[in-house]
Amino acid sequence: MDESARLADRERFEGALRATGRGGVENVLNELGRLGFFEAPASTKFHLAEKGGLLRHSLNVYDQARLLRQVECRVRPDLAERLPEDGVAVASLLHDVCKADVYREELKHRKVGGRWEDYVGYAYDSSSFPLGHGEKSVIRLLRWGLEMTDDEMIAIRWHMHAWDLADSPEARGSYGSASDRCPLLAILVAADGLAAHIQEAK
Ligand SMILES: [Fe+2]
Ligand SMILES: [Fe+2]
Repeated sequence: MDESARLADRERFEGALRATGRGGVENVLNELGRLGFFEAPASTKFHLAEKGGLLRHSLNVYDQARLLRQVECRVRPDLAERLPEDGVAVASLLHDVCKADVYREELKHRKVGGRWEDYVGYAYDSSSFPLGHGEKSVIRLLRWGLEMTDDEMIAIRWHMHAWDLADSPEARGSYGSASDRCPLLAILVAADGLAAHIQEAK
């Protein structure tokens, strides 16, 4: 991704987040800048493993989630109130802020046309703030002073859905209740999957 595309993405992300009118947004943007969110990749080698990848992924999830919201509100008009546009923006743009500081650049080697070459890739290291995934995003956002609804916290906390359950009956119970009461969770899970496995697939 070239630098001008990344800067355009950053402008779009900041604009969409400010448009929610939420208290704490400016502090969130400052903290994301400080942690390197706008330069981070989305993964070490899967989807968008490149500078600016996490930012682009967050925008892709935002676009998918807004489309899904429109479709689902047509299917279930009574849900429109439970799915406000600003909530969809907060949940989708910020679901992966846990990943802002978990990738570090690393020199790697690959074979191209029969010859080995060096390149700068990424390694995963969550040791600077090891708090898990969705829960880490929620804790960060609250600590940064973002005004969030219960639905937004639930959706971000459980956006890894069944992958995040380990073997805990309590976690399974919470996830089941979250799925039952929070339509934003279903939208975010679907949007995240569509972005990663269709929009960003190589
Ligand atoms: Fe995630
Ligand atoms: Fe994601």
